[in-house]
Amino acid sequence: MRVDLFATAQEIPGTDWLAGRTAVVIDALRATSTITTALHCGARAVVPFLTPEEAKEAARSLPEGRYLLGGERHAVRIPGFHLGNSPLEYGREEVAGREILFTTTNGTRAIQAAAGASALCVASFLNAPAVARKLAESGRDVVICCAGTEGTFSLEDTACGGAVLLELERLGVTLSLNDLGWVALELYRSYRGREAELLARSEHGRRLIGLGLEADLGYCAQVGVINAVPVLRDGRLVI
Ligand code: MLT
Repeated sequence: MRVDLFATAQEIPGTDWLAGRTAVVIDALRATSTITTALHCGARAVVPFLTPEEAKEAARSLPEGRYLLGGERHAVRIPGFHLGNSPLEYGREEVAGREILFTTTNGTRAIQAAAGASALCVASFLNAPAVARKLAESGRDVVICCAGTEGTFSLEDTACGGAVLLELERLGVTLSLNDLGWVALELYRSYRGREAELLARSEHGRRLIGLGLEADLGYCAQVGVINAVPVLRDGRLVI
């Protein structure tokens, strides 16, 4: 299986190149961990938007009680939104049966950028083994689209891409990788079992700790605790 890994949303190639491939979007801290959690906890769908204004506009056509506005700017909840971007806010009681209209700085941007792929799913450490199983079943070539942080490399996203690659290897898939794919695989091999340490070392992880959000790192560092794989259907993430 051919797998190419890109480090930032800005590097994701255009639709011509994506066509025929499955895109795996990763923003391990925290957008794709939050999306995976929300759907696992019974949210009807997570709808990604580039801007808070677009999300609010979409809310106008939905009945009150049917949706929640969720997301962040500068890692904190957007004024007027119901929820921020902490996966710990997206428990069953809060989200079951609701549509989450969701916008984050890098994560939802990466989803929009990769939307031209033949299939798109969302990965985090939480569901990395389940994502790998789904990719192995499909057999289609893959592009791992790390969100990065405003155009720069993120340790945690690339390592999470490595976690998906290691699981594919364990499933017996023969991998043909681009150079960054090899880096991701080796990076994850050297941190496997110490995911929380890796997250705490990352620049964004340290920023979240500074904001008092250390509990999010502990949660996002858990590997394989969720079997749900969010997929993009008609602009909505569902399982
Ligand atoms: C993002 O999409 O940029 C991140 O998920 C930021 C965050 O941790 O809130």
